[in-house]
Amino acid sequence: MTTTTADKLQNVDLDSLESQVKDMYTKVAEKPHEEYHFEMGRGLTERLGYMTEDLDRIPAEAIDSFAGVGYYFHLAMLKPGETVVDLGSGSGTDAFVAALKVGGEGKVIGIDMTDAQLTKASSLRDRDGFANVEYRKSYIEDLPIEDVSVDTVISNGVINLSPDKPAVFREIARILKPGGRLAIADIVTQSQLPETVSCNADLWAACIGGAMQIDEYCAAIEAAGLAVTTTQANDKYGFISDNAMGATEKWGVHSISLLAVKKG
Ligand SMILES: C[S@@+](CC[C@H](N)C(=O)[O-])C[C@H]1O[C@@H](n2cnc3c(N)ncnc32)[C@H](O)[C@@H]1O
Repeated sequence: MTTTTADKLQNVDLDSLESQVKDMYTKVAEKPHEEYHFEMGRGLTERLGYMTEDLDRIPAEAIDSFAGVGYYFHLAMLKPGETVVDLGSGSGTDAFVAALKVGGEGKVIGIDMTDAQLTKASSLRDRDGFANVEYRKSYIEDLPIEDVSVDTVISNGVINLSPDKPAVFREIARILKPGGRLAIADIVTQSQLPETVSCNADLWAACIGGAMQIDEYCAAIEAAGLAVTTTQANDKYGFISDNAMGATEKWGVHSISLLAVKKG
């Protein structure tokens, strides 16, 4: 019998998991040049496919703390005037890039639960005059956003960190307009992770322990009412600590970019 992610979570202390994730991403916001399980910063964004002309127009300090896992803006196809929600906006790289694409008539709302990330992203927004970006403190499992009000939801390296991914996908379906897009990069696995990995809070916060098996991940998106139209492997993304690389090889932990469209 297969053990699903939901089964495994029976054995995880969710409060300590949340504190571990918040601690990790507070450090990412405040001390981007320390050592992590994963790579960060401008070199990574360029390798993943972010365009130089976009990176040059957003705050460099946000890019220093970029902890995303792939590029998906070629799938998102954001248009001027659109309303975009960035789940787990961190220090703001993706929200700022989205703001360039939707322009002054559009709007980007970044959602994050970690104060240090929100503080950093908001002060960079104020300093550099990104008037079309707003950051809101919230869990991605319970979004402070109106029903059927959003053109595109974006997210980079975040949904794997949620202990309740079906709830995240239900919230995405609730806020999207019919035909609205979900364009993301995230970490998934080829085979189910054993409990030694999924119950390890350190590996969870490093975007490995919480990763869902890819078919289960796409099925959860479809169950929420979206059709998955594209998945692409991001071969340019890799973890860097020995512990993380071991898990990557053993269970096929890898990054994908994905596009899904809300049905109806
Ligand atoms: C891997 S970082 C990615 C940040 C950003 N997307 C980037 O590319 O730099 C994950 C972010 O998601 C936030 N996060 C993780 N789980 C969350 C949840 N359940 N609700 C809200 N924010 C969450 C963390 O605080 C952190 O800022």
